[in-house]
Amino acid sequence: MQRKPFFYDITLRDGNQSLKKPWSLEEKLFIFDKIVELNIPAVEIGFPASSKMDFDSCRLLAQKADKNTVVSVLARAHKGDIDKAIEAVSCAKKPRIHTFITLSPFHMKNVLNKKPDDVARLAIDAVEYAYNNVIKENKNADVQFSVEHFGDCAKNIDFVIDVLKEIVKKGATTINLPNTVERYRPGIFLELVSKVRKSLAENITIALHNHNDLGMATATTVEGFFIGANQLECCLNGLGERAGNTDFNQVVIALHNCGVDCGINLSKIYETALLISQMSHVKIYEKAPLIGLEALAHRSGIHQDGAIKTKDMEFGAYRPIHPDLIGRSNDEKIGFTSQSGKTAIYDIIKALKYPITLQESAYLTPIAKESAEQKGELNPKEILDLYFNKICNIEGAFELVSFKQIEKGIFDLFFNFKGERKAVIGKGNGPLDACLNGLKELGFKTKLSYYKQYSLDGAEKGSSAQAMSMISMLDDNNNEIIGRAIDTSTAVANVKAIFNALNQMYK
Ligand code: KIV
Ligand code: ZN
Repeated sequence: MQRKPFFYDITLRDGNQSLKKPWSLEEKLFIFDKIVELNIPAVEIGFPASSKMDFDSCRLLAQKADKNTVVSVLARAHKGDIDKAIEAVSCAKKPRIHTFITLSPFHMKNVLNKKPDDVARLAIDAVEYAYNNVIKENKNADVQFSVEHFGDCAKNIDFVIDVLKEIVKKGATTINLPNTVERYRPGIFLELVSKVRKSLAENITIALHNHNDLGMATATTVEGFFIGANQLECCLNGLGERAGNTDFNQVVIALHNCGVDCGINLSKIYETALLISQMSHVKIYEKAPLIGLEALAHRSGIHQDGAIKTKDMEFGAYRPIHPDLIGRSNDEKIGFTSQSGKTAIYDIIKALKYPITLQESAYLTPIAKESAEQKGELNPKEILDLYFNKICNIEGAFELVSFKQIEKGIFDLFFNFKGERKAVIGKGNGPLDACLNGLKELGFKTKLSYYKQYSLDGAEKGSSAQAMSMISMLDDNNNEIIGRAIDTSTAVANVKAIFNALNQMYK
């Protein structure tokens, strides 16, 4: 059977303690619900001994949590903290006491100023005390122990393992191995984790709690799962002390992409990320994987081409997931810069609900690139303006002055050709035919190969009263030349389209 990760959320504890303004009780309640909606099965709700506000919020959340959610509270390895923790959480249906102390040689000596054996005693006694007291209250309760600064324990790993074996005997069922400060590469840390995993019984849960000081917490956590860690401690949006904790979204999606069933409500990821950013006042970096504004944006022509060709596929040419997976529908952005190509113009105009051919977008591309070289990225409106000005209104030898119906099937056409005024009466089966016949009479090219009329209803700019004509004429070499124009009168739109095509032929 495939192993499943057990996600343990630490947003309300490690995330909260790092905020400039920790969350109020109401805010914690709101975020707790969001965590539960993501279907995360365990939540560390706070550190009751840290403040009255935190104690009160832990108690309230413990009361509120249902039977499916483990609610955990933090306590240093001493009786005072553990008593507070028990008082705050024991009303929960599935309470957990999470006690911790460092076993790192550096920290024991320089911060605790204690001998390793004395620290070991504190750790073992704390677990025993927590177990005896919490289990007495509730048979569904359990105890987690964390070796703070486990990542700094390479030199005394055998000592750490001996202490952990004692701790397990005293009743801890989850052993957390934090990389409290990320200092080295993931492989070095995971070798230590592997040693502990092999030394403890299979039924003991190994947890990972990685900080992101060097930006590799996600990698460490994901790889940690594959070497036997089951409980993955993560923060929403990667909040947490200093550079944060392991980012929940990244770990879940990386595992999901590897075929691991995480049991998480993935479609809630993006909306939750936006909410957490708003409530924490910690902006989402625009390049943040998955949730950043730019995380699904493409600007190079090659990437845009691949992205557009695979837009509706689950596996995209230049993205790790389909945006729908995390609730970011229609968020694969195509931005036009001097590095972009014709597919981008095509896609942007189509997205604005205007018709365009690849030939037309190829014609617009060098013009748009030149403009983008000066300005930087062109927004969709600027691309649309180019489309109107350069595709729907091509300047050149021909300049339409007027086109009026005299009587049914007979039209008066006035125009300038290379500055010279021309006038002709065009007769035909409708305005398009009449215009072409008039031009033919004056000796101009008039081979029509294709004609189409669009109503611009639904286009983002332009009123529903506007019509667009697209005509295609053949030049002397039988190349198709497309003319397109917009007008409130369909007849005038047709004539303008012809003139736009002629202006491409007579240069
Ligand atoms: O980073 C850490 O070591 C911690 C412990 C309290 C688990 O947050
Ligand atoms: Zn931490």
